Amino acid sequence: MREQTGAAIVGCGTIFPVHAGAVSRMEAAGLKLVVDTDGRKAEQAAAEYGCEAATDYRAILEREDIQVVHLCTPHHLHAEMAVALLQAGKHVLCEKPMAHNLQAAERLLKTAQDTPAQLGIVFQNRYNAISQKIREVIDSGALGKLLGMKGIVTWHRGRDYYAGSPWRGRWETEGGGVLINQAIHTLDLLQWFGGEITSVQGNVTTGILADTIEVEDTAHAGIAFKDGAWAIFYATNAYVTNSPVELELVFEAGTLYQRDDHLYLKQNGAETRLDEPASSYNANTVPGKAYWGGSHELLISDFYDHVREGRKFWIDEAEGIKSLRIISELYRLSKTQELR
Ligand SMILES: NC(=O)c1ccc[n+]([C@@H]2O[C@H](COP(=O)([O-])OP(=O)(O)OC[C@H]3O[C@@H](n4cnc5c(N)ncnc54)[C@H](O)[C@@H]3O)[C@@H](O)[C@H]2O)c1
Repeated sequence: MREQTGAAIVGCGTIFPVHAGAVSRMEAAGLKLVVDTDGRKAEQAAAEYGCEAATDYRAILEREDIQVVHLCTPHHLHAEMAVALLQAGKHVLCEKPMAHNLQAAERLLKTAQDTPAQLGIVFQNRYNAISQKIREVIDSGALGKLLGMKGIVTWHRGRDYYAGSPWRGRWETEGGGVLINQAIHTLDLLQWFGGEITSVQGNVTTGILADTIEVEDTAHAGIAFKDGAWAIFYATNAYVTNSPVELELVFEAGTLYQRDDHLYLKQNGAETRLDEPASSYNANTVPGKAYWGGSHELLISDFYDHVREGRKFWIDEAEGIKSLRIISELYRLSKTQELR
């Protein structure tokens, strides 16, 4: 049997079981340690997954049996923890966003580039069958030039969601609202499909959740790409339910669109469904809410493969920071009331 890659997970909250479950199902990895400042949560998680527990992530720094660390902590801790871990030679798989603001993300980017250990950012929706198919169509040029895109995220986050984890809803700890926490996945996909960005315009507002959070619950944007495409984007946490994300990509020779978690091609007046019903984002195949995208497990095992084989993981610091740059620009525009 191959030697297992030793793993630790920091943060035993909502997303923890998705990471712990994926690691425990991988033959090539072994979970050694789970960490949470809430000792009870750490002990419970350790008992469930058969590993050790700790309350301070710095316990990992000296552990030679741990090579990969998953960061599942509140946003404001990502950069600080990732920098310390990378400098100690640990590979880091960090939940999105890479950091709670652009300044911290730039610091982390520099450390990741200056240290031999790898940094991966969890944008699991790039592994969805639909996203992969869209990328394939763009790369093949089968539909001609990409002219425009639309990304719509209308979800529900109620008062109990924010009360459950007090770091949420605060600039200092979450770093923003619907943009940096929920819709960052869709912004990441739009920029991954569209390529280099030349300008961003838009605004953020806080409406129905204003009595609960200080960050935005709603945002809209227009994004111009160097190759000529133009994207419009809308996101809110103030809807009554979690609707499936809507994506549309208009090409010279046809339109791809995602509705109800399926991908369709509209061409010459006919509509064809392109994805297989049992594709990888099916919520029943891995734990996790359907609207998060269920491709965590694919991303996690791919990260471990890259680390083991010494290949650079593709969703790295340079990729992770791109959506954060869009978000940061939207916050800046909103704050300065600049109309562009
Ligand atoms: N990729 C996705 O689709 C997805 C989905 C959900 C959450 N997330 C991300 O996962 C991260 C965690 O989110 P969550 O919803 O699980 O949050 P959560 O509040 O449910 O859990 C966070 C956990 O971190 C612990 N913690 C706080 N400070 C700590 C510290 N200094 N050291 C160790 N543990 C500490 C808390 O006690 C808590 O148990 C966030 O970055 C979030 O954006 C990603």
